[in-house]
Amino acid sequence: MLLMASLSYSFLFFYSYFILTLFLLHAPLLVTSSTYRYKVVPSSLNRTASTNSTKHHHKWVGPVGYREITVDVNGAGEFLTVQAAVDAVPENNRENVMILISAGYYIEKVTVPASKPYITFQGEGRDVTIIEWHDRASDRGANGQQLRTYRTASVSVFANYFSARNISFKNTAPAPMPGMKGRQAAAFRISGDKAYFAGCGFYGAQDTLCDDAGRHYFKECYIEGSIDFIFGNGRSMYRDCELHSIATRFGSIAAQDRNSPDEKTGFAFLNCRVTGTGPLYVGRAMGQYSRIVYSHTYFDNVVAHGGWDDWDHASNKNKTVFFGVYKCWGPGAEAVRGVSWARELDYASAHKFLAKSFVNGRHWIAPSDA
Ligand SMILES: *[C@@H]1O[C@H](CO)[C@@H](O)[C@H](O)[C@H]1NC(C)=O
Ligand SMILES: *[C@@H]1O[C@H](CO)[C@@H](O)[C@H](O)[C@H]1NC(C)=O
Ligand SMILES: *[C@@H]1O[C@H](CO)[C@@H](O)[C@H](O)[C@H]1NC(C)=O
Ligand SMILES: *[C@@H]1O[C@H](CO)[C@@H](O)[C@H](O)[C@H]1NC(C)=O
Repeated sequence: MLLMASLSYSFLFFYSYFILTLFLLHAPLLVTSSTYRYKVVPSSLNRTASTNSTKHHHKWVGPVGYREITVDVNGAGEFLTVQAAVDAVPENNRENVMILISAGYYIEKVTVPASKPYITFQGEGRDVTIIEWHDRASDRGANGQQLRTYRTASVSVFANYFSARNISFKNTAPAPMPGMKGRQAAAFRISGDKAYFAGCGFYGAQDTLCDDAGRHYFKECYIEGSIDFIFGNGRSMYRDCELHSIATRFGSIAAQDRNSPDEKTGFAFLNCRVTGTGPLYVGRAMGQYSRIVYSHTYFDNVVAHGGWDDWDHASNKNKTVFFGVYKCWGPGAEAVRGVSWARELDYASAHKFLAKSFVNGRHWIAPSDA
């Protein structure tokens, strides 16, 4: 894991700029992000109850009990910071813990350690409850070493069964100019398994959302960035999300890091919208067996010629990656079919990317949350 992560750092670091220098295209106008609001949906705290699967003869050890913790930056809650609330959850937590975070800006770096599963961050709306920090890859950590990409995240989650609703995560470091090094700046890193996000915002530029490892479900989220703004080796479904590019000379949405044909990881985008500025690659082969599929997705007229990028033009990744599109539409959709190694899928090959079963969701995502 550690080795893999450090390999990925250097790949990201080096090749993102390699590509940048190749594509000195004209900067289009910046389009401001749209906002959307959602109807109030009662949070289902019982989403893990359906995990009582007897199929593998495992005894279900899920959360028992429920606890609420309030956080308010203006002092009206139990805690002033989100990290203080997380710190108040005991190690080896077994309760469903709902951390209710009032509207406001929480300027802090937050970590949810692996020993604290079953935590939910519930905001009051992604436009009003915001956690933000501003670390960049070249900044130095407490030990004097450069942070590098994965450790820049404003919020990092290592625990399983994390969820977040109606809250935004930002990295406010200034967007890098093309050619600048060490400016990767993640807003959020998810390294735990079975994580669920609804109505969340992720804001950054290069490497906004580190979808590092584990099974994840993102519903009705807004994800903004410029280069590789969703990256890592997660096994994730993104449903009804807006993927918004703020790239100036060139950009790319997803860089997926699957490294062997035996891994079940990949990014499945379903019924999403791709907006913003381009030209934009929709996927890049971070790993040799990178897997990215867009289904029923709308593409604005922002897709770069070719649509996909093989990352380094050297390792014949175009023979081993799985890049696909299924029933996509919009003025940019034709460009997403721009290379011979990104296939137009038929139903038989697309269907496993179309349902929450891609992330084994039947066992941990309530039907009303899917
Ligand atoms: C998020 O908050 C908005 C109101 O700000 C509400 O309409 C919506 O239902 C909420 N969504 C979730 C998933 O909690
Ligand atoms: C969770 O399930 C239990 C029993 O099925 C039910 O009594 C309780 O109200 C549920 N809680 C929520 C928040 O849905
Ligand atoms: C979970 O499984 C156990 C053992 O099979 C069973 O006794 C229990 O009733 C189940 N609980 C639920 C909520 O389905
Ligand atoms: C695949 O990549 C190799 C370089 O790794 C390149 O020579 C070849 O032309 C590419 N094939 C296609 C179909 O793009």
